[in-house]
Amino acid sequence: MQFKSIALLGALASIAFADDDVTTSSASAASASSTLSIASGCSLSSATATAQADLNKYASCSALKGDLTISGSLATASLSGVKAIYGSLIINNATLLTSFTADSLNTITETLDLKSLTILDTLALPELATVGSINFVTLPALDSIQLNTGLTQINSIYISDTSLETLDGFDVTSLDTFNVNNNKNLNSIDSKLENVKVALEVSYNSNDVEVAFDQLQWANNITFNDVSSVSLSSLQKVNSSLGFINTSLTDIEIPNLTAIGGSLTFVSNNDLEEIELSNLTSISGGFDISNNTALSVIDGFDSLETVGGAIIFIGNFTNASLPSLKRVSGGVDIESSGDLDCDSFNSLDKKGSIQGDSYVCKGASTSVSSSIASTSTSSKASSKTSSSASGSATASSSSASSSSKGAAGSVGVQTGSILAGVAAFALSLI
Ligand SMILES: *[C@@H]1O[C@H](CO)[C@@H](O)[C@H](O)[C@H]1NC(C)=O
Ligand SMILES: *[C@@H]1O[C@H](CO)[C@@H](O)[C@H](O)[C@H]1NC(C)=O
Ligand SMILES: *[C@@H]1O[C@H](CO)[C@@H](O)[C@H](O)[C@H]1NC(C)=O
Ligand SMILES: *[C@@H]1O[C@H](CO)[C@@H](O)[C@H](O)[C@H]1NC(C)=O
Ligand SMILES: *[C@@H]1O[C@H](CO)[C@@H](O)[C@H](O)[C@H]1NC(C)=O
Ligand SMILES: *[C@@H]1O[C@H](CO)[C@@H](O)[C@H](O)[C@H]1NC(C)=O
Ligand SMILES: *[C@@H]1O[C@H](CO)[C@@H](O)[C@H](O)[C@H]1NC(C)=O
Ligand SMILES: *[C@@H]1O[C@H](CO)[C@@H](O)[C@H](O)[C@H]1NC(C)=O
Ligand SMILES: *[C@@H]1O[C@H](CO)[C@@H](O)[C@H](O)[C@H]1NC(C)=O
Repeated sequence: MQFKSIALLGALASIAFADDDVTTSSASAASASSTLSIASGCSLSSATATAQADLNKYASCSALKGDLTISGSLATASLSGVKAIYGSLIINNATLLTSFTADSLNTITETLDLKSLTILDTLALPELATVGSINFVTLPALDSIQLNTGLTQINSIYISDTSLETLDGFDVTSLDTFNVNNNKNLNSIDSKLENVKVALEVSYNSNDVEVAFDQLQWANNITFNDVSSVSLSSLQKVNSSLGFINTSLTDIEIPNLTAIGGSLTFVSNNDLEEIELSNLTSISGGFDISNNTALSVIDGFDSLETVGGAIIFIGNFTNASLPSLKRVSGGVDIESSGDLDCDSFNSLDKKGSIQGDSYVCKGASTSVSSSIASTSTSSKASSKTSSSASGSATASSSSASSSSKGAAGSVGVQTGSILAGVAAFALSLI
């Protein structure tokens, strides 16, 4: 009888759906994008589990739809059987939680959000491969994650204030943002990333963190703070800005980099002795090398032809040369406490290649000889005018040095705003 079989179906509904799920999901193992069906009882607009019993209710759900939050005074938690969450998995404020396991979980379409889990030391996600966003914040006891399959599809990674020692298992090759900061035990990052569409930032992890992004070909923004080595051997293009701030790098070499779409910054890298970006031909924004106390020579930019913003070099270097430079759209401010020869920049200025309204080049000896001319005009406009006037004169060493003297006379006026500008830029990167 028809009624009877419908009643029977109803009684067996959960079993029937569970069987259906198993069939569908074995197909989905091959392709993360295929969608599992949602059995009744597995659709939650949002649910909060505060005990293991709450999680056991989902054991027959291959897929959960909605956001699942785990919170409260659980000591351990496990989500068994669930292969996909079409939504977010949030674990927060579970200060007694030491262990979380999701033995079958392969996909989370939205966010995996783990926050303020002060004694969590075991995180087992053996099957996890696809996640919208990873957000791990304040997990001070977490030193490793079990990721047997490995994460291959993620849009965004934010990992802050954990005890992670490696990022092994984060095997993604392309994403929007990668921000890993303040993980004090993180000693090395060896990434498979090939491109980063929005921003890549590695900052304030272990003081000795060694960072390798050797498959990375392009990234929008890149910022490194407080790293001890960086390898970017495949990097060809930075679409926006590239910055090295307050690192302990001794040297940096990026052989394949040819173009930077925004600014290039090296600020307060106290051990930095050598920068070698020998194939870089253009920087579309500003170019700042400031306060790198061990940097005595700036000579690693043999191919650099154009700078779209201003050049600011401040430090204790004795030689700065940009032999291929043809055009600087902004001003040039070079100030060294070392014995710097300004001749090559003076001749660029005379050729009209420095298009901004200020040109300053000041070294220890230039500043000494310019004291003779210290009563000369000191406004930006007149120093610019006097140097272009001398540019129309026959090039001789005496006219070159007089242009450098006139420029040096305006240094005192400009230094404050230059430093303020560099400091503001550095703050914007932090
Ligand atoms: C965290 O959980 C405690 C109890 O375990 C509760 O009193 C507190 O309000 C919760 N805080 C948040 C931000 O949920
Ligand atoms: C960055 O530049 C690369 C190489 O030119 C290009 O393929 C990529 O689409 C650019 N990315 C962005 C976000 O503009
Ligand atoms: C650097 O660029 C050259 C020429 O494009 C290429 O042959 C080489 O493989 C690149 N090196 C790396 C490490 O990507
Ligand atoms: C630079 O790093 C030191 C510690 O290494 C820190 O105290 C200081 O605040 C950092 N400065 C900036 C500008 O980030
Ligand atoms: C980098 O420049 C060198 C010469 O300075 C050249 O031999 C090499 O092919 C260039 N590499 C790339 C990737 O352009
Ligand atoms: C500049 O460098 C020289 C060595 O090249 C050193 O003797 C001097 O103390 C440095 N000055 C400053 C202000 O760092
Ligand atoms: C500065 O460096 C350039 C390039 O390395 C070199 O040709 C030049 O002789 C150096 N000048 C001084 C004064 O050391
Ligand atoms: C450079 O160092 C000087 C002196 O230590 C400091 O006043 C200035 O703020 C530093 N600039 C930057 C951009 O860190
Ligand atoms: C890239 O970096 C620059 C300079 O720090 C900043 O102004 C800009 O907002 C950054 N863009 C992105 C997409 O992060």
